[in-house]
Amino acid sequence: MSDKLRDQFDIHDPSRPDFWSERFDKGYTPWDHQGVPGVFVEFATAIEGGDAPAGSPVSRPSVLIPGCGRAHEARWLADHGFAVEAVDFSRAAVAAARDQLGPHAHIVREADFFDFAPARPVGWVYERTFFCALPPARRADYAARMAELLPPGGLLAGLFFVTEKPVGPPFGTSLDELHRLLDADFELVGERPVEDSMPIFKGVERWLEWRRR
Ligand SMILES: C[S@@+](CC[C@H](N)C(=O)[O-])C[C@H]1O[C@@H](n2cnc3c(N)ncnc32)[C@H](O)[C@@H]1O
Repeated sequence: MSDKLRDQFDIHDPSRPDFWSERFDKGYTPWDHQGVPGVFVEFATAIEGGDAPAGSPVSRPSVLIPGCGRAHEARWLADHGFAVEAVDFSRAAVAAARDQLGPHAHIVREADFFDFAPARPVGWVYERTFFCALPPARRADYAARMAELLPPGGLLAGLFFVTEKPVGPPFGTSLDELHRLLDADFELVGERPVEDSMPIFKGVERWLEWRRR
């Protein structure tokens, strides 16, 4: 981030909810896809029954979306009949999500990912620009929390920001680091190309599917 951009903000610690609220309030959300990534739709519709209309028998995982921001994917999933819970600890993010979610506004909750009780057992945690938003010191906590939330066979699947970028957010990571963090409890079972990244993630966003051991 340039000094000029940095000077527009008062709060510089991304571990604080008001860091994110300030950015939502000032209309600075360059990570926002303004819709759902194509690779997300491919994955969700490939899940058995994933494109069934709402109300049909559910044979698909319930989904948790941590650090959901405007929660575009939560809206898509709810519209397609998935049970979905979206969580964000920023007041302004949750307000923006509620606006965007319309009739599904109740599925978003203002809560800290590291300290909340999910409404129901989780089968799929969807990741997008949440891991890279966390201070890197919290990465081991992220891995432990994912292992706690997901039962054997459950999936941590979504988009990871895989590039060298130690200053953030977004903070970059490497595939090696992800393996070091996750391998004890997860197996990498899938990858997909990402074609429609937002400019700040172009070429360095990777769809990864980690299955809980
Ligand atoms: C870069 S934004 C990404 C938003 C959304 N995932 C997206 O793709 O548009 C990161 C979000 O994570 C939220 N966040 C950061 N740390 C969090 C935590 N510990 N618990 C819940 N939400 C958190 C922030 O408030 C912010 O809305």
